[in-house]
Amino acid sequence: MENIFVELEAYLSHECLELLQRVGDSAQKRGESAYLVGGLVRDVLLCQSSLDLDIVVEGDAIGLARQIARDRDWTIRTHPRFGTAKLSMKEFGLDIAMARSETYQKPGALPVVKQGAILDDLLRRDFTINAMAARLNPGCFGELLDPYGGQGDLSKRIVRVLHQVSFIDDPTRILRALRYEQRLDFHLERNTEKLIRQDLDNLDAVTGERLWHELELILEEKHPEKAICRADELGVLQKLYPALRGDGWLREKFAQARTGGDGPLSLSGIYLALLAYRVDPEDIPVFISRLKMPGWAARIVRDVPRIRQGMSSLAALEIRPSEIYRRLEHQIPEVIKAAAVAADSLVVRERLELYLNSLRAIKPSLSGDDLQEMGVKPRGELGRILRVLRDARLDHEVTLRVEEEALVRRLLTRV
Ligand code: CTP
Repeated sequence: MENIFVELEAYLSHECLELLQRVGDSAQKRGESAYLVGGLVRDVLLCQSSLDLDIVVEGDAIGLARQIARDRDWTIRTHPRFGTAKLSMKEFGLDIAMARSETYQKPGALPVVKQGAILDDLLRRDFTINAMAARLNPGCFGELLDPYGGQGDLSKRIVRVLHQVSFIDDPTRILRALRYEQRLDFHLERNTEKLIRQDLDNLDAVTGERLWHELELILEEKHPEKAICRADELGVLQKLYPALRGDGWLREKFAQARTGGDGPLSLSGIYLALLAYRVDPEDIPVFISRLKMPGWAARIVRDVPRIRQGMSSLAALEIRPSEIYRRLEHQIPEVIKAAAVAADSLVVRERLELYLNSLRAIKPSLSGDDLQEMGVKPRGELGRILRVLRDARLDHEVTLRVEEEALVRRLLTRV
């Protein structure tokens, strides 16, 4: 039997490898068998490192997780209903699940789960390249289980389902297939592509939450536009929402969004705003509810029509920095960035970037407490004077603290 110890040693950290050996030792002592499964096996065989540790145990996953947590002072969270546990330590997390078999009652529904053996567990998985496991018990550590030809498909660079009804069992795999195909630069195996086209309508039965989860995973990819454009080509994107488009425009704008190093802005948020950018404002509420978007995402998508509406006013010939600030201060920074990327007008783009890169951080140097010491009343007046000071800074009317103090005194004598 093939052994992938050399690959594990090459692409995992020393701590990670030692941890896997401990998991195997603990399982052995308990008379159980433990396996490394899923994405990590795929990634090390592709000569890539990975931090996503998924373990399957033929036996009691929660009992094994508790034992490891006791030995090593880890934080543990258990889900007895699913027979799974999550261990976390500083730099990694470790998911342990019991080996299970699954049966699907109807398309799009969650499966009925029963305890099973490792081969049952691999059979329930999405693609051959994700259906491999490495043994962790001492004496056979690193032995590869590859019952569906995953390794062969990795070398052919193809994404292939395990059986004909895979997308009927779980239509979200359609989105997963495109994500892996585009991330790894693989292609869909011919029959798998045919099944995607054939089973597309099953996506209609999938809940918004599950569709959103898959879209979010795509938006977290390094180059999400690749999977989105592929989804458009196969008619999958329109199943998420009919008005979405994955075309040359989207490709270009997503790539632009990555340039400019906008520090703390969330790239996924910017991508989402760009995806929503060409959805008709009237359709936005339906788009949000079809995908049951969580609050942060719904706020972004809802903000898009508002910023688009204000774009023409940002193109005015003469506009003071304080006016730019006022027009943008209540908009989400990720949406502003998306609008800058999407803007046709160079002037508008520069003003949006100016706000993001400089104006939004500008504050008066006098604080509320300083103002109160100067005799400003805490309610009403204080907020107004702070805004006047900020505007004066934004418009370069004051630059020094003493100039701010002089301005406050002038304002106070005028009241
Ligand atoms: N899986 C599946 N069907 C799904 C979701 C997950 O078969 N709808 C299986 C796959 O075998 C996958 C494993 O569960 O490898 C773990 O899922 P996940 O963490 O989503 O995938 P990874 O393979 O770890 O991929 P990624 O690199 O994207 O994290």
